[in-house]
Amino acid sequence: MRLSRYFLPVLKETPSEAQVASHRLMLRAGMIKQSSAGIYSWLPLGFKVLRKLENIVHEEQVRAGHVPMLMPTLQSADLWRESGRYDDYGQEMLRIKDRHDRDMLYGPTNEELITDIFRSHVGSYKDLPLTLYHIQWKFRDEVRPRFGVMRGREFFMKDGYNFDLTKEDALHAYNRHLVSYLRTYERMGLQAIPMRADGGPIGGDYTHEFLVLADTGESEVFYDSAVTDLTFGDRDIDYDNVAQCQSILEEFTSKYARTDETHDEAKFNEIPEERRCVARGIEVGQIFYFGTKYSEAMNAVVQGPDGKQTPVHMGSHGIGVSRLIGAIIEASHDDKGIIWPEGVTPFHCGIVNLKQGDEEADAACDALYKSLTALGLEPLYDDRNERAGGKFATMDLIGLPWRITVGPRGLKNGVIELTSRRTGESEELPPEEAVKRIAEIYAGL
Ligand SMILES: Nc1ncnc2c1ncn2[C@@H]1O[C@H](COP(=O)(O)OP(=O)(O)OP(=O)(O)O)[C@@H](O)[C@H]1O
Ligand SMILES: [Mg+2]
Repeated sequence: MRLSRYFLPVLKETPSEAQVASHRLMLRAGMIKQSSAGIYSWLPLGFKVLRKLENIVHEEQVRAGHVPMLMPTLQSADLWRESGRYDDYGQEMLRIKDRHDRDMLYGPTNEELITDIFRSHVGSYKDLPLTLYHIQWKFRDEVRPRFGVMRGREFFMKDGYNFDLTKEDALHAYNRHLVSYLRTYERMGLQAIPMRADGGPIGGDYTHEFLVLADTGESEVFYDSAVTDLTFGDRDIDYDNVAQCQSILEEFTSKYARTDETHDEAKFNEIPEERRCVARGIEVGQIFYFGTKYSEAMNAVVQGPDGKQTPVHMGSHGIGVSRLIGAIIEASHDDKGIIWPEGVTPFHCGIVNLKQGDEEADAACDALYKSLTALGLEPLYDDRNERAGGKFATMDLIGLPWRITVGPRGLKNGVIELTSRRTGESEELPPEEAVKRIAEIYAGL
């Protein structure tokens, strides 16, 4: 992409309505524009990151054996009356009437809809286990939408639902989700710690929330600092392997890590004092096992091997895809702007032409652009007729992890400059070397 042809409406001023860094930076970098409270348009740069995160989530879900689909945003109230949640959900639910005066709602979540699909088509234990998921917009009429996309009213969420014959099978589905989530967040360059949480209105004894530590997080968390040493890394996972998934769950959840709702002071105090941490976190996902709560209420039954009809065991599992962008920026920025982890960056690198219109500089930039593109990489080439300082400031603000700077002086010696956004360190090298280096950095991502 050439910047002269792109739509990147960066703001010079710091928007006064934004209280946290990620919200400020997303507005300043021209990623989003508020359309009404808690509802945003995703401008091209923001949309690109959103798509990247969505892809990572899809890849990791499919890898875990889960099946993608898409359900509508608008739902009929009837199903929610069956489960009893139409009245329970309260003011967070956006209720709508259609022209025939039928009660509709903009889905805040999809347990009812998916259970209805399941009961309409599945009747035998032979079709289990089954996990269906989608990534779709949700609406919750939050009392206080704030922090930009982190607490929106309309937000993008992956929600998955497992259907199993027995509690044991459903707990394997729970573990499988936990493992796949660990991998998902790590690919995004994030540490998200699974913490024991409270079932809340969805109910259930087994639930973990995934939290990204950040001072601006809305949840208070208590944990043993040893949990922050755990990394998932490049493990070979067989998602059908019950023992393997169980042992990873144990590895990542046996140390103390809880949100304030389940915090237990006595247990916490058993940890050596120097390892006791009280901090704040951003909830970027949650997994639940809730047994037969919905299957009983909505008669989602299958015929078991013994010929008897039995309600299926279920769980639901969510990832806050749009919130994650805020969380990533909270975890990775400095006073100049965003610093994207390589796994989610909207463009792989920036190209800054220090002297637009100079024949040699223009030709070198074009050649770099072509070589990078030919390797499947996406550079953002700042080909505008602007001062170098302005170009650098824009690149720093939008946070591409690597910048190639091209100028007539370097070209005389056959070199360009490659700069890391994270460390600020620069290195002079021939253009082909820089292309090779960038290709290596992104190989396998
Ligand atoms: N208003 C929101 N804006 C953006 N993302 C959200 C919002 N509400 C929930 N999410 C994301 O969707 C995920 C799954 O939804 P879940 O039902 O667990 O949310 P929740 O527990 O009600 O969230 P919270 O406690 O933050 O209100 C959450 O972990 C979070 O990342
Ligand atoms: Mg939650």
